Amino acid sequence: MTSTGTAGWPTGPADGAVREYVEYYIREDEVLTAARERGRELGCPPIGPGGGAALRFLASALAARTVVEVGTGAGTSGLWLLRGMAPDGVLTSIDVEPEHQRAARTAFAEAGFPPSRYRLIMGQALEVLPRLTDGAYDLVFVDAAKPEYPRYLEAGVKLLRPGGVIAFDNVLWGGRVADPAHRDPATTALREVAATVQDDESLVPVLLPLGDGLLAAVRKP
Ligand code: DHB
Ligand code: MG
Repeated sequence: MTSTGTAGWPTGPADGAVREYVEYYIREDEVLTAARERGRELGCPPIGPGGGAALRFLASALAARTVVEVGTGAGTSGLWLLRGMAPDGVLTSIDVEPEHQRAARTAFAEAGFPPSRYRLIMGQALEVLPRLTDGAYDLVFVDAAKPEYPRYLEAGVKLLRPGGVIAFDNVLWGGRVADPAHRDPATTALREVAATVQDDESLVPVLLPLGDGLLAAVRKP
């Protein structure tokens, strides 16, 4: 139930049972469940099901044919992206760890995606991103080293076509971003990205409180 709070904006029970309902509204299948488990085993926590569904939604709304992912992990977010993209779309995913990319290959194969649908690049995203074609991508998704997020933003926006979308996982960082008492490098970098996106008149942002927070922004056409 929604009511009007004392500050005048609608309030609702966004935590507890409702939050859980939102997060698990879209069920994951066995392929996603297995990828999620491998991600946990490899120490790269995957995006939650709510954020994953949002990625699939974005890829589908954009009819995305070209997507860049910063942080392949074990392929959980990659599966969601591939399932939303156009049937001939290619996911370019960057990660520093070869074991992550092996796990992602397994996940994509289990889901029935042929290798022509994805290109896995091993390396430092900040070195790889500038080598990709500017203005050529429908969607860029970032879920890697938090202190590097401001530089992923800068390099990622350049890759977007007009009308393209950039999205970042973990922008709530377990509540630390919204709490000024936290000033560690990851929290500070995440806060900086949120502020930069908010102030950039060439972007149309939304902060979705799914999972650990998904910040998305359209590059204005
Ligand atoms: C961490 C990183 C993530 O990308 C995530 O979604 C959750 C946790 C981490 O480094 O702790
Ligand atoms: Mg993440």
